[in-house]
Amino acid sequence: MNDLIRSLVEAFGPSGFEDAVRDLIRPLVEPHADEVSVDAMGNLIVRKRAAGENPLKVMIAAHMDEIGVMATHVTAEGFLRFTNIGGVGPHTLLGGRVRFADGTLGVIGADRNDDRSAIHPLSKHFIDVGATSRDDCPVRVGDAAHFERPFVAQGHRLTAKSMDDRIGCVVAIEALRRLPATVPHDLYFVFSVQEEVGTRGAEAAANRILPDVGIALDVTLTGDVPEARSMSVRLGDGPAIKVRDSGMIAHTGLVRLMRQRAEEAGITHQMEVLDGGSTDARPMQVAGPGCAAGCISIPCRYVHTPSETVDARDVEGAVQLLVAVLSNPIEL
Ligand code: CO
Ligand code: ZN
Repeated sequence: MNDLIRSLVEAFGPSGFEDAVRDLIRPLVEPHADEVSVDAMGNLIVRKRAAGENPLKVMIAAHMDEIGVMATHVTAEGFLRFTNIGGVGPHTLLGGRVRFADGTLGVIGADRNDDRSAIHPLSKHFIDVGATSRDDCPVRVGDAAHFERPFVAQGHRLTAKSMDDRIGCVVAIEALRRLPATVPHDLYFVFSVQEEVGTRGAEAAANRILPDVGIALDVTLTGDVPEARSMSVRLGDGPAIKVRDSGMIAHTGLVRLMRQRAEEAGITHQMEVLDGGSTDARPMQVAGPGCAAGCISIPCRYVHTPSETVDARDVEGAVQLLVAVLSNPIEL
């Protein structure tokens, strides 16, 4: 699975600029789908039809986009000022590298700071692409970039930028490959856009599909590093079944079903209560007349930094759990 993970996490895909990620995923899922389409926003919708009567519509969402930056101004000396795409913390910037869609690499610098313990806001950082003036700068206002960092596998631990949420995309792709030829429900795998700027792609897709059941695949935080937040999720302890986050309280029947399937299949798992953050499960839950929504989370350290770290055993467990849930009748 590491080759697939590497190709997806190293691809370019800040929110609103997901084309390259979609181009990678589409040929991988087409052999396992009955229908593949792309909507106006850019969501990739992969349908696998039910075999039985009166199937439920189940939407599975994993977002293709990642956080990043966008050039707002090119100075006369050829430096770029920029704004954030999604949740970018100023403490993650200085000395980092970004890459634009055309391959241009930039180094992030900051204005002089006399107080060495203070961190400048985003607006006092700049990107240096090696230009010497506005005229020879290859980047234009409105160009987006992602944080540049190669994928590294060290034992079970996998580190890269954009594990949030390419690892969810990997789980969806792997599950599609492993699902039996006939499934009891109409499955809509949605590789969504613009999650990091407010779950916008999944909202549009859910309002089109009007699912009965919605399952998001996304990363969650952990409480297992020094002086971490109080949170019981640990890296390596298996996929996390979300009970709540700040945007959604998961459907209790769906949570119960996920636990039951995990126990039946002998999949090590954990329960998740997340204080902040949300996922594509939220717009699915409240789309149209509403649906039974939940989320299978992949524990991840250092979320929204260029070194998001997951554990390969949790990824495998998430695939197994999703397959177990989708292969069997869902009665809530
Ligand atoms: Co995120
Ligand atoms: Zn995410």
